[in-house]
Amino acid sequence: MTEGGIHAGRVAFVTGAGRGIGAATARLLAHEGAAVALAARTEEEIVSVAHEISSRGCTALPVSLDVADEDSVSACFERVRAELGNVTILINNAGTPGVPLPVAATRPEEWRRAFDVNVTGAFLCAREALPGMASANWGRIVNVSSAAARHPVAGMAAYGASKAALDQLTRVLALEGEPYGIAVTGVYPGVVDTRMQEDSRGFGQELIGKQLHRMFRGYRDFGMLRPPEEPAELISYLCTPAAQRLSGFIIRLEQLEAIKGES
Ligand SMILES: NC(=O)c1ccc[n+]([C@@H]2O[C@H](COP(=O)([O-])OP(=O)(O)OC[C@H]3O[C@@H](n4cnc5c(N)ncnc54)[C@H](OP(=O)(O)O)[C@@H]3O)[C@@H](O)[C@H]2O)c1
Repeated sequence: MTEGGIHAGRVAFVTGAGRGIGAATARLLAHEGAAVALAARTEEEIVSVAHEISSRGCTALPVSLDVADEDSVSACFERVRAELGNVTILINNAGTPGVPLPVAATRPEEWRRAFDVNVTGAFLCAREALPGMASANWGRIVNVSSAAARHPVAGMAAYGASKAALDQLTRVLALEGEPYGIAVTGVYPGVVDTRMQEDSRGFGQELIGKQLHRMFRGYRDFGMLRPPEEPAELISYLCTPAAQRLSGFIIRLEQLEAIKGES
């Protein structure tokens, strides 16, 4: 752990922390001094990342969680509060792209699942974390969104619409958190080399169509994939005291150096 790191003394709750962007963020927050709860459904993954963090002398607690399940979210927060303390950093990173299909071919249960995980999950976690943040008069919530919220991509209505809803949740939470020193931001992490991209490349052309198939393959073939540590750095910065002025904004990975330069 970094002695007196920028997140020293904080308790952070990171959803989707078993791999990809969430795991990289959990590692970095812990390295910078936070005690970190790692939440996701796949127990082996969160246990493995937590073990890796603990072996470096930092504090990590794996907690099994489905963000779409209200009871699971409540139980998890209760355990984290009891074992680590009051959560004042929340990273709503867990997300699902679902199967990218045109609206006419999307099953209602797939549409609902995208919203349940990508928006309702963030709402449920924020609802649990907010009272403790208000009592501490300090909090940071970072919602990991996607540029698909702003740029329409044929075949990605459920994902794009759910991330657009997440962005509006971010803006409203920022207004509500302001009197309590709670800053709420969103992140467009770019195209990141994670399981989500790997899975997207694996969908056959016959299932998702030629255009999307070429797009996902092109990200890899043209070297556009960024390492998860890059968005993790932006997310960690948004958890610092300096980030209060950014509350309500949705920030692209490419803006990191510029916003750091302004502080
Ligand atoms: N990779 C990209 O290019 C990219 C681009 C834009 C935005 N994003 C966003 O970045 C975030 C992280 O994605 P990633 O690329 O790092 O993907 P990833 O490597 O597939 O990781 C996703 C994480 O979310 C967890 N998760 C999924 N559903 C969950 C649920 N219902 N409850 C709890 N945890 C759940 C997964 O664990 P379990 O399956 O074990 O639960 C996993 O730990 C997502 O919100 C995604 O939309 C990614």
